[in-house]
Amino acid sequence: MLRLMYVSTATAEMNDAEIPRILESATRNNTASDIRGALMFNGVNFAQILEGETDKVEALMETLKADPRHMGIVIIGKVEVDDYRFDDWTMRLIEGLNFDPLFQAMV
Ligand SMILES: Cc1cc2nc3c(=O)[nH]c(=O)nc-3n(C[C@H](O)[C@H](O)[C@H](O)COP(=O)(O)O)c2cc1C
Repeated sequence: MLRLMYVSTATAEMNDAEIPRILESATRNNTASDIRGALMFNGVNFAQILEGETDKVEALMETLKADPRHMGIVIIGKVEVDDYRFDDWTMRLIEGLNFDPLFQAMV
């Protein structure tokens, strides 16, 4: 399985009201495809970790690339792993401005 982290930049289509919508989609779809992870939004940039079967994570990345609420996706890290780190969370929203908790989770 794969653990992938990316950062991206919010577009004008993004505002705080979209966060619960994103989490609703993520909870529903990630449960169905056994994807776990964490999301941070600092008002300008997103950082997200996705964990799951490699083909499912890659497929979700294609969906995310097409989402008009963000742009400029940059993959920060991609590692083969044996276990989930965010097992309790279909998609956990981590509050905070500093993406360090996600960078730490990649190493
Ligand atoms: C920053 C960001 C993170 C997202 N994370 C997820 C995710 O983890 N899982 C997911 O299914 N959709 C996620 N989405 C939403 C998808 O881009 C897409 O809108 C959604 O999967 C559509 O599914 P739905 O029509 O079933 O709601 C995210 C969107 C953004 C902007």
